[in-house]
Amino acid sequence: MIKIGSLKIEGKVLLAPMAGVTSFGYRKYMNQFGVSVCVTEMVSDMGLIYDNAETKTYIDFPKSEIPTGVQLFGNSPENLAKALLICEKLNNSIDFYDVNMGCPVNKVTKTGAGSALLKNPKLCGDIIRALKAVTNKPITAKIRLGWDKKSINYLEVIKELENAGVDMIGIHARTTKDLYSGVPDFELIRDLRKQMNVPLAISGNIYTVDDAVRAMEITGADLVMVARGGIGNPTLISNINHYYKNEELESPSLVDQIRYCKELAKSIIEEKGEFVGMRVYRAIAPKFFASFPNSKKLKSRLSIELNKYQDLEKILDEYLEEFEK
Ligand SMILES: Cc1cc2nc3c(=O)[nH]c(=O)nc-3n(C[C@H](O)[C@H](O)[C@H](O)COP(=O)(O)O)c2cc1C
Repeated sequence: MIKIGSLKIEGKVLLAPMAGVTSFGYRKYMNQFGVSVCVTEMVSDMGLIYDNAETKTYIDFPKSEIPTGVQLFGNSPENLAKALLICEKLNNSIDFYDVNMGCPVNKVTKTGAGSALLKNPKLCGDIIRALKAVTNKPITAKIRLGWDKKSINYLEVIKELENAGVDMIGIHARTTKDLYSGVPDFELIRDLRKQMNVPLAISGNIYTVDDAVRAMEITGADLVMVARGGIGNPTLISNINHYYKNEELESPSLVDQIRYCKELAKSIIEEKGEFVGMRVYRAIAPKFFASFPNSKKLKSRLSIELNKYQDLEKILDEYLEEFEK
């Protein structure tokens, strides 16, 4: 068991924030596979301050048994604290707050938010201090190694965050310039946890149980973040937990994957409605069948033809029929 501030966390998997993916419907479905703690998509502080209707949908979710954090992004301690207070007023189901200090997207970094914050470790600390001043709920931060290979400064950032009272730190073991590709550098942060006073969650290319175990062993992290590797592969989460409990690992059959794919679609439709839900699902559904033979046509159909839930059922049933011939 680890503690994120006052929250007691059992298990190993943190469902990582992914803009456009980890909406309420996605989290609700994935959480059943043994997620220990989860985080929303990133939420703009200014969007909340300007009362933007779409921004507010990200923080609209009911109480979950799985501790759920709202991830805020912004560039100023004052505005982030204001945004946190708006969240507190609008939703009493939020268990903690995470600050995005890792987003590499230009639209975000050019405003000084996301991973641009890493260029100013003191500001990172000031943000945590400002948030701690307005809530008793735990405050966590998600960072990267640094801006680029020449400015690796995660240790300095971590010290500032810890001095400010951060309750957990997530680190994506890439630099901002790496974006989302290349091999995450876990060796660089070997035994990082030993140098820290708060729990560490590790992120970067976690696609298999081996990836998770290796990243945790090298860095000494308390939690592993499942991000892209969990899209279309929910049993990655249960299998990471099975591994640590010495339980047998599952290898989902095609029939299992079809069932999971349909169930997740229903959860997303319940949240977003069929029209929007099925459009979002065009990017998710094909991932369930990445490893199955002759799935090229299936994946292409799923990424183009999904308008209604029935389209999903029809395409999957046809593939299964073909597969079983
Ligand atoms: C589509 C997408 C959206 C993401 N959105 C966020 C986000 O909103 N906040 C955040 O901290 N990280 C975000 N990330 C980063 C992931 O949480 C994770 O750290 C990263 O994908 C590395 O893990 P992986 O290589 O296992 O996918 C995003 C990643 C992807 C692929």
